[in-house]
Amino acid sequence: EKDVLMLAIETSCDETAASVVKNGRKVLSNVIFTQIALHTQYGGVVPEIASRKHIEKINQVIEEALDQADVTLADITAVAVTYGPGLVGALLVGVAEAKAISFAAGIPLVGVHHISGHISANYIEHEDLEPPFICLVASGGHSHLVAVKDYGEYEIIGRTRDDAAGEAFDKVARAIGLGYPGGPKIDKISAQGNPDAIPFPRAKVAENEYDFSFSGLKSAVLNYLNACRMKGESFSQADVAASFQKAVIDVLVEHSLHAVREFGYEKFAIAGGVASNSSLRAAFERECEKRKIAFYRPSPLLCTDNAAMIGAAGYYEYRKGVRSGYDLNAVPGLKL
Ligand code: KG4
Ligand code: ZN
Repeated sequence: EKDVLMLAIETSCDETAASVVKNGRKVLSNVIFTQIALHTQYGGVVPEIASRKHIEKINQVIEEALDQADVTLADITAVAVTYGPGLVGALLVGVAEAKAISFAAGIPLVGVHHISGHISANYIEHEDLEPPFICLVASGGHSHLVAVKDYGEYEIIGRTRDDAAGEAFDKVARAIGLGYPGGPKIDKISAQGNPDAIPFPRAKVAENEYDFSFSGLKSAVLNYLNACRMKGESFSQADVAASFQKAVIDVLVEHSLHAVREFGYEKFAIAGGVASNSSLRAAFERECEKRKIAFYRPSPLLCTDNAAMIGAAGYYEYRKGVRSGYDLNAVPGLKL
């Protein structure tokens, strides 16, 4: 069969990214322009600023991706692009760009779901990984427990009822004065803290044992900080961070691996920005080994937003015959 060379574009949030992926699994280039520094002064992503920066950067990022892969547009088989979920203005930049390239180069356009991309990041470094498996997707906007039935075929088993896991990391980080983006900062400082210092709650959701809820945990952290202030006591950033992080990880591990067992799966994967958390990776590694579950995880750079994962997901869509028309639109609330 002929090689499929996919040019992939991702602009759903604050990363302007392009990548060239061969046959869904081999990354020839993976260029990411991160806007984090730009949004830090506002304490979070400002949608309008993100869109404008995407417009400024997108052509340069794509050129770099082609250059690094040592190919030109003439070598590309198809162009894949994230069309949702995400920030509408940010998504539109990638979608418009992908349409223009598809039209100009006369190659097919393939719209990709952002979460399908996160999950498919696992295919890149694990040549042996094939569906079915269960995947925990934990990012800034999503916390889903997904049964991957086949390539691009998903069934959601559990989801968060309120905050996404990454959102909780970001909010708690802000509350203890670590700033944005919170996940990596909590990850780092937790290494110096005691994860058992403060008994934060592990929330269960009554109606679905595979659902998550993190807003109660976030409130518990805020209450703890307030109590310290009222008593005129200082608190340990590292202990709060480590105890909070442990509470999140305990719940993610417990619910995920319970689902793997109950639904009779043998393989388990993690994905999304939170999956780059070092303690979370260690915890899943340990628990999966104990329970004899094959464990897969992308390297940290492929956990957070990137276009290589969109190239991987896009390849399997392309293989199934999925082609998007020039009426492809950004869908901020796109369902998996
Ligand atoms: O997947 P992603 O890059 O973007 C979304 O699709 O949302 O995820 C970003 C989220 C942010 O909330 C960030 O704080 C969190 O992932 N994150 C982390 C770590 N690195 C990023 N959370 C915990 N530990 C980390 N090391
Ligand atoms: Zn993402």
